[in-house]
Amino acid sequence: MCGIVGYVGDSEALPILLSSLERLEYRGYDSAGVALIENGEIFVQKEVGKIRELVKSLWGKSSKAHCGIGHTRWATHGVPSFENAHPHLDPSKSFAIVHNGIIENYKELKEELINQGHIFTSQTDTEVIVHLISKYYEGDLLEAVRKTIELLKGAFAFAVITKYEPDRIIGVKQGSPLVIGVGENENFLASDIPAILPYTKQIIVLDDKEIVDITKSSISIYDFDGMIKTKHSMFVPWDIVSAEKSGYKHFMLKEIYEQPRVISDTVRGFLSEGISFPFDIKAINRIVMSACGSSYNASLIGKYLIERYAKIPVEVGYASEQRYEDIPIDENTLFIAISQSGETADTRFAAQYAKDNGAKLLSIVNVVGSSLDRESDYTLYTHAGPEIGVAATKTFTAQIAVLYGLAAFMGYERGSMTYEEYSNKIDKLAHIPSKIEDFLQNTDLNGGVYSELSSAKNAIYLGRGLSFPIALEGALKLKEISYIHAEGYAAGEMKHGPIALIDENMPVVFIAPKDKLYEKAISNIEEVLARKAKLIVIGNASDQHLKDISKHFIGIPDLDEEDLYPILSVVPLQLIAYEVANRLGLDVDQPRNLAKTVTVE
Ligand code: M6R
Repeated sequence: MCGIVGYVGDSEALPILLSSLERLEYRGYDSAGVALIENGEIFVQKEVGKIRELVKSLWGKSSKAHCGIGHTRWATHGVPSFENAHPHLDPSKSFAIVHNGIIENYKELKEELINQGHIFTSQTDTEVIVHLISKYYEGDLLEAVRKTIELLKGAFAFAVITKYEPDRIIGVKQGSPLVIGVGENENFLASDIPAILPYTKQIIVLDDKEIVDITKSSISIYDFDGMIKTKHSMFVPWDIVSAEKSGYKHFMLKEIYEQPRVISDTVRGFLSEGISFPFDIKAINRIVMSACGSSYNASLIGKYLIERYAKIPVEVGYASEQRYEDIPIDENTLFIAISQSGETADTRFAAQYAKDNGAKLLSIVNVVGSSLDRESDYTLYTHAGPEIGVAATKTFTAQIAVLYGLAAFMGYERGSMTYEEYSNKIDKLAHIPSKIEDFLQNTDLNGGVYSELSSAKNAIYLGRGLSFPIALEGALKLKEISYIHAEGYAAGEMKHGPIALIDENMPVVFIAPKDKLYEKAISNIEEVLARKAKLIVIGNASDQHLKDISKHFIGIPDLDEEDLYPILSVVPLQLIAYEVANRLGLDVDQPRNLAKTVTVE
């Protein structure tokens, strides 16, 4: 999704803006640009394509500007093009804006402005905002922005500068993320924290309906009614190394290898923070879980575990669908929203719907201070650190770890598990990092798997029980970064349709750990073998039978807690997707058309 950066201070703005934009690349984008206030005028440079193109086009430019804004654009209104790239200017070239989100009523506003003689140069909704700001400007940028936002409908964040007030940036947040970095004789603005992490770790997270007025020595925050707000900065403990590749070829690979540490941190965080629900968990009679993408797949695992341990009925839905369903929700419903970023628009809207209907809202998020975190009654954190690769890896396994701990805790609180049983579960979870480490260090995935999949047009992923969501996740990983069509199915469903797809050319990835559905999985594997598919199996390393019957076999360590196999069995699937995409020479960390944080509906 679009990324915003802003800088005002004693240093030269251009290199800071460009390097901050590079750290927003992972969000996904198709064009990039900067606007600087130089010698009383606004200078704009933008390019379609990667930030390196923008950097190249600025080669040799020496800029003394101390105030500017920058942007990475992920096209929503209008194709990726020079005209549609941000920053956008007003007709007099006195104001520049960068924007993330959607102005839902831009067509009406644009029509009105055209009738008043305004000429537009892009197809974007953004251009409307800067025209309005210039129209309302009477010597105070803040006032002009205030008048403008009264007219805007939608979810958005933007930053605007004007040549008339060269040391000032105004930022607005309504639905899309925006954070302020607090420095000495300098301040920053960005769509998310990693962008400005090398410059400051003191961060103020803006809430919806807030406007910030930034100069190099002051930060004033107002609500949309013009009331000043007092907000304190928080210290972000992430170091910049966690947002860098540290010698790995791609962020995704680094993040896969970080999983043992991440799960340890997640378990530690879980134990030290504990769980103390701000509502009576015994009064909850139904749970609804909501998420998108990988977080949705993790929710499916959460459903199995919560129903198993806490005996509460759980419904799981895609957030984008749920917000338009009339799901029955009341004050005895617990709504669990799961999101790495905590900014996914669909998930936030679904959660808001649930809250409005009286449900208790519990979130599982990775980004502390994100919108969902702040909007929830209660939050559990995944402590995975910044995840830069678009494909979710370490945050997915961290979500499963939290869901496992949460399910066990609910079981204990509701009396379906003893304290000993609960703490035994947590002990077992604490052993998982060494098992993942063992797999990562000792397994040499054979090259045959990669060539099998990288030459395929389609692939099927199958699993039963807790391995079914892992099949979905494996297929999602492969398709999103390698562009190979892959589908995950519950293996028992295969004979009701998908089996028609299986022949000797079809790679079938089967996840079959030694759990309670193992025997059933073996029967399904036989069905696959009977159709001569190219069978790739993820099973226990000790499972000689599976080894013998599969074309390619990937062994994972034995566990004495079968409910934890998903955390382990997804790791080879992540590696397979990574290596296939890598061999195909694709952009692993920033796959086409995808954004890391999807802040639009
Ligand atoms: O930040 P979220 O967890 O809410 O994001 C949800 C999905 O967009 C995300 O999981 C997406 O599916 C991943 N890129 C998958 O790897």
